[in-house]
Amino acid sequence: MDYGYQINSEAEYKIAYQKSVANPEAFWEEVASEFVWHKKHDKVLDWNFTEPKIEWYKGAKLNITENCIDRHLDKLGDKPAIIWEPNNPAEASKTFTYKQLHEHVCDFAQVLKNNGIQKGDRVCIYMGMVPELAFAVLACARIGAIHSVIFGGFSAQSIKDRVEDAGANCIITCDAGYRGAKTIALKNIVDEALENNNTVKKVIVINRTNTEVLMKENRDVWYEAEIMKIKNALEENDFSSIPPFGGGGAESMDAEDPLFILYTSGSTGKPKGVVHTCAGYMIWATYTFVNMMHYQQGDVHFCTADVGWITGHSYILYGPLAAGGTSLMFEGIPTFPDAGRFWDIVKKHSVNILYTAPTALRSLMSFGQEPLVGKDLSSLKILGTVGEPINEEAWHWYDKNIGNEKCPIVDTWWQTETGGCMITNLAGITPAKPGWATLPMPGVQPILVDENGIEITLPNEEGIIKGNLCIKFPWPGMLRTTWGEHERCKQNYFATYPNLYFTGDGALKDADGNYRITGRVDDVLNISGHRIGTAEVENALNMHEAVVESAVVGYPHDIKGQGIYAYIIYNGKIEDAQKLRAAINDTITKIIGAIAKPDKIQFVNGLPKTRSGKIMRRILRKIAEGETENLGDISTLLDPDVVSEIRDGRV
Ligand code: WT7
Repeated sequence: MDYGYQINSEAEYKIAYQKSVANPEAFWEEVASEFVWHKKHDKVLDWNFTEPKIEWYKGAKLNITENCIDRHLDKLGDKPAIIWEPNNPAEASKTFTYKQLHEHVCDFAQVLKNNGIQKGDRVCIYMGMVPELAFAVLACARIGAIHSVIFGGFSAQSIKDRVEDAGANCIITCDAGYRGAKTIALKNIVDEALENNNTVKKVIVINRTNTEVLMKENRDVWYEAEIMKIKNALEENDFSSIPPFGGGGAESMDAEDPLFILYTSGSTGKPKGVVHTCAGYMIWATYTFVNMMHYQQGDVHFCTADVGWITGHSYILYGPLAAGGTSLMFEGIPTFPDAGRFWDIVKKHSVNILYTAPTALRSLMSFGQEPLVGKDLSSLKILGTVGEPINEEAWHWYDKNIGNEKCPIVDTWWQTETGGCMITNLAGITPAKPGWATLPMPGVQPILVDENGIEITLPNEEGIIKGNLCIKFPWPGMLRTTWGEHERCKQNYFATYPNLYFTGDGALKDADGNYRITGRVDDVLNISGHRIGTAEVENALNMHEAVVESAVVGYPHDIKGQGIYAYIIYNGKIEDAQKLRAAINDTITKIIGAIAKPDKIQFVNGLPKTRSGKIMRRILRKIAEGETENLGDISTLLDPDVVSEIRDGRV
């Protein structure tokens, strides 16, 4: 497959970028011509950031799975689409060619149809990283059901919230999932989440581990049995149990029909369902994939993310597949059975592109050189990072030890809401700058503003502009709304600064136009590349019966990037602080999931509050960071004495 829109030199990048700004409609019309449509669009773009209303390729009809699968069958049918590597290296890996992927996705689509799932229905997917997860996601897209993938580490309560918010009528899960040495009882967790639920009519269960599970009559079905039903019927030429759909046909979707919902944390309240739509998302995921990785036919691309996060959606599934690429999907974790696992996988599957998170690199760095001894990484051509700022030490370690100083490293900045990468260097095409995401993708128009939304144009003495990162023009992959709450979408992203999309990140810009993302400027934490709202953690802490009040802040953490520091006012005598901390952590695991467990818990008698009752997080942040001297102005506090008490009791 050739990509007419692939950028092959720095000069080409400049031309493409200028064109995308000068005439976005012509630019994106040309890119769209390389995809397959049932019907062409009437209008490339219609938008305003006040409502907001964002419509790309309005009037077009398509199905994303035809772009990801069917159109490759002729020329690339026998090429590996997905290589699957199991959690345990003793188990055999599996390869699915485009033809085989087509068959599996059509079968799964048929199973969904047979179970009454229709276009527009919401289907939650709570699975481990097994091939059926890819089939399930694509099967939903094929029949026009809106998928909502829930990361396998989330708790029953988190599933319940997401199922209810989306009004899902189906959940796809596994009996259990493997993750390193652990087995996670996925189906049990789903059962717990569905107590008192009345929207979910079907639970489709894939057998991964032969774990015994309860199957609720009339609700729960085994995927394997459903597939057998279809195969048997086909063999007997009995089409009565198969609707006219016949498995193969893909639903014709409107460009702006929702493709999926993905829940993500904000600075307030419960996670919100970011909505992406069919056409724009497809174009963006594919365009950015092909360009940031400078993808060449035949390259094996290994993105180590989980499909439960946006990175997995865009760069394990949709982007690489729409590009006719080969995507490696890994069920396990970087340290199982040992910290050399990634490197074994690279060798085993001749990986050319490795895309991972800084936190994974820092964690692997902490094992020293030993896990790298004797590993053959010579297949690698390109390296990438995503999820958080990469510190220079990790960057250089990656460059030297993994890339052998000959693989370009792309530092890709983006968000769940942006659908695909926004700011990055292009591998081997535009220069890297350690710690800097560098330049915007064509189509992305960043702007740095002060707290009043005024563009900052004057650099400081070092030639750097520093401000809050906004985007001033739509790009095809941007979120369209938050599920069921358009007003919340507006408030969250478009109300802080009029006519701008606000990212929530702070950034620097150098004289060459390079961007460095410095991190969130709102109350959102980035723990090992996972987004967690402080309010969400506080709400969960407060559910512990003896927690009176809590305040959560982030602090620098060597491996996770940021750690969670919780200040807790506890009702009662603390006899065994360690035991109490463990109990509180259990509450968090139950309400959100283990990823949101505080790293540090300090019991306090009071919190620093202003006279109007607002918690002064600035002070708590400083104390958590280890700052004891310059806590700033505390004169406006209701009770300035609590500060010294908190400072002295720092854990
Ligand atoms: C937040 C988005 C994008 C997929 C994974 C995370 C931070 C992401 C970078 C980067 C510095 C980064 C930002 C952003 N972030 N990539 N290359 N450099 N920071 O998606 O969970 O939606 O989180 O991750 O703070 O706002 P997410």
